Amino acid sequence: MNKTITFTINGQQQTLEVEPGTMLIDLIRDQLNLTGTKRGCDNATCGSCVIIMDGKAVKSCSMPSEKADQKNIFTIEGISKGMHLHVIQQELIQSGAIQCGFCTPGIVNELVALFDQKPNCSETEIITAINKHLCRCTGYEPILEGTLKAQKKLLG
Ligand code: FES
Ligand code: FES
Repeated sequence: MNKTITFTINGQQQTLEVEPGTMLIDLIRDQLNLTGTKRGCDNATCGSCVIIMDGKAVKSCSMPSEKADQKNIFTIEGISKGMHLHVIQQELIQSGAIQCGFCTPGIVNELVALFDQKPNCSETEIITAINKHLCRCTGYEPILEGTLKAQKKLLG
């Protein structure tokens, strides 16, 4: 039986009817047309579908959409302020950490959630967070470099 859920996404409240078994990625991409959330493996492995739900980075490909009820969600579309990119996005660009860009939304969301929860986190914690994401292009070093620069800026 379909269920009606209400949640906030990128600051806007939404009420939608969802079919049982629908994953959050389908709701985000197909019903809300927020296609910045990428589908890679579709089996909770690659991290490209990561969004932020109630402050935590979660894989939307393995999250039943019913679980979004009453939650506060951010996708990559809600991370920048209009044309003004988040400092993490700016530093990843500066460090050459974006090539095809397919992994980037998931990585940015992962790092935004991490720095919101623990602004002073260690390099090891950052590496652990980045390691949850598959990047076929960059070799990870530019991602880490950009992330460390962003952390420094965020800490002021
Ligand atoms: S698409 Fe969700 S983890 Fe790969
Ligand atoms: S930049 Fe292409 S997969 Fe990461």
